Amino acid sequence: MKNIVILISGRGSNMQSIVNANIPNANIVAVLSNNPDAAGLAWATERGIATAALNHKDFASREAFDQAMMLLIDAYEPDLVVLAGFMRILTPAFCQHYAERCINIHPSLLPSFTGLHTHQRAIDEGCRVAGCTIHFVTEVLDNGAIIAQGVVPILDNDTADDVAARVLAVEHQLLPQAVADFVSGSLKIVGKRVIKRHQADSSAQMLA
Ligand code: GAR
Repeated sequence: MKNIVILISGRGSNMQSIVNANIPNANIVAVLSNNPDAAGLAWATERGIATAALNHKDFASREAFDQAMMLLIDAYEPDLVVLAGFMRILTPAFCQHYAERCINIHPSLLPSFTGLHTHQRAIDEGCRVAGCTIHFVTEVLDNGAIIAQGVVPILDNDTADDVAARVLAVEHQLLPQAVADFVSGSLKIVGKRVIKRHQADSSAQMLA
């Protein structure tokens, strides 16, 4: 069984998609937030999942907040930390501590449109497609090895909300799958590329 801690900042629909997927060998041990009012916390509590919030406004620095959050996360002994709409820029110490065991979902086709307002920026650039990326977290914002990407069209009269809704449906498919792939040990990071090992490959390696 792998312990999973999920970090959210708001409604938590991606967190819900992971919980609802009932991923084999995945134990969702806690849902944590920097925002005490995050709607997703109540949803998780109702399902008997441990929740807690540390308000980042209560901390003097980004470093102090991240150190406290790391202590809170580590109390749950996670094998994987999932940033599911966690709207915080992370310190190098946090990223190093969870290296290769922390993944993030970002609402763009990285490396395009890191940061905020991704869908509006894609519309403004005349992009024909938008999407989402699930990637390992490194010290460089929205830049770690890519696990999965999903693509949707941008139609001529789309607003950013239209694109966000279309992308969100894909996020809800890809994020539980990425968690399942991590839990089953199928993801191998080779430089900036994530190789998906099939179960057959793993068995062959065990026999070798
Ligand atoms: C999602 O669209 C996710 O891709 C995005 O926040 C939304 C959270 O929705 N993440 C980021 O922008 C991270 N930089 P949710 O709370 O309903 O899962």
